[in-house]
Amino acid sequence: MPSREFKKSYEKSALRFYIKTYGCQMNKHDSSIVKGLLAKDGYEETNNPEDADLILLNTCSVRRHAEARAIGRANNLTNLKAKNPDLVIGIIGCLAQSKGAKVIQDAPCVDLVVGPDCYRDLPELIRSYTKSRRSVVLTEVRQSETYGDLNARPDAISAFIPIMRGCNNFCSYCIVPYTRGRERSRPAREIVGEVRELTRNDVKEITLIGQNVNSYNDGEHGFADLLRIVDSAVGDARIRFTTSHPRDLGDEVVSAIVECESVCEHIHLPLQSGSSRVLTLMNRGYTVEEYMEKVDTARRLVKGVALTTDLLVGFPGETDSDFKQTLDVVREIAFDFAYMFAYSTRKKTRAATMEGQVPREVRQERLKELIGIQNKITEERNRSLVSETVEVLVWGKSKNNPRENVGKSRTNKDIVFRGEAKAGDYVNVKVEELRGWTAYGRIVG
Ligand code: SAH
Ligand code: SF4
Ligand code: F3S
Repeated sequence: MPSREFKKSYEKSALRFYIKTYGCQMNKHDSSIVKGLLAKDGYEETNNPEDADLILLNTCSVRRHAEARAIGRANNLTNLKAKNPDLVIGIIGCLAQSKGAKVIQDAPCVDLVVGPDCYRDLPELIRSYTKSRRSVVLTEVRQSETYGDLNARPDAISAFIPIMRGCNNFCSYCIVPYTRGRERSRPAREIVGEVRELTRNDVKEITLIGQNVNSYNDGEHGFADLLRIVDSAVGDARIRFTTSHPRDLGDEVVSAIVECESVCEHIHLPLQSGSSRVLTLMNRGYTVEEYMEKVDTARRLVKGVALTTDLLVGFPGETDSDFKQTLDVVREIAFDFAYMFAYSTRKKTRAATMEGQVPREVRQERLKELIGIQNKITEERNRSLVSETVEVLVWGKSKNNPRENVGKSRTNKDIVFRGEAKAGDYVNVKVEELRGWTAYGRIVG
């Protein structure tokens, strides 16, 4: 039997990392890339920060609150470092890119600050920090980096594939173009290779992600072409995509959704505001009328399509009347679901210095009113599922009740149901009732 000391040193031989991810799907995917890079370098993942030799926080900068949470969490790690002086703490992701060395001023226990284009260097940067004990900041913008050769390993029946990185839109409120650099698309053949690999590993739902998937362009193919190519390679898995920019959602993409059997009937189409004047100030590149036309086309051509959106209230210069227009448009369109936000000032963006900044209380009041209205609409839209039979992709057992299963409709709605099924199956569920917002039913046929 190995001695205790031997066992201890043996156990210690692999360094352990803990990673916590904030922000959007792109960040979640980046975290799995980082996990792969660290695993290749001999690290093991742990779910317990107290056990870790390396702690990484993959951060978001999109609103002030998101930044504050990450900095707060980093400062909370100070006591772990007091217990284990060898612990290395890194801030990666969008906050790292936008704040650089300033992160270390705000959270002095941080040793590494690494931006989204520089993850390949992480193992080397960690080694260099460990040797010198001098903090490392790397926020180089590498326009050609897409991590195209570093596929994430699927750990569920659902997976994301980034088809592009960065953003060229510079919506005047948004920090993403400053944290993620310019838009770059991955070649279609690389994406299809990843699709095949995922479906071989039993993945049943693939979401193509990018800040503006409709402007996908690899030099040979646009987004509609990509949907068709992926559809022909995907077998019986479902395809989703996000985010669509209303300016760039063309009829050819809508036609591809209709034609491609694997592409689900759901479009996430951020409206942001129901006032064309505010949309101009936001630099969104469409009017409310143009947006409505896209909605009409989608609803006319894609049978049963679900439409979801992002809404942003309290943008500088937004008057009561602009806000009322947003409420009117929201009622008229009746989105299936909306992510709703109060405007948060981001340094570097154009909106930060615009006239007519709306007081915080007013932004919060408007948000509350909007949420009240949209939540009722979401419930009504879900109620229309009652007594319908829908095709559900099974995700697994419900956490609340092991006798029930959870899954998703093609329109991306959660469905809870009774009956025998396992993750990855497709079943038909007859929806019988709504509990809160959630549709409940049983397997039929
Ligand atoms: N590329 C996507 C996602 C961007 S971030 C898109 O264009 O929709 C997701 C959402 O966060 C945005 O749609 C917007 O509604 C919100 N958002 C972005 N910047 C914000 C800010 N400064 N304050 C509040 N919400 C913001
Ligand atoms: Fe931000 Fe606009 Fe780009 Fe979306 S499209 S990431 S809101 S700049
Ligand atoms: Fe995503 Fe937040 Fe960055 S939304 S792109 S993680 S700023």
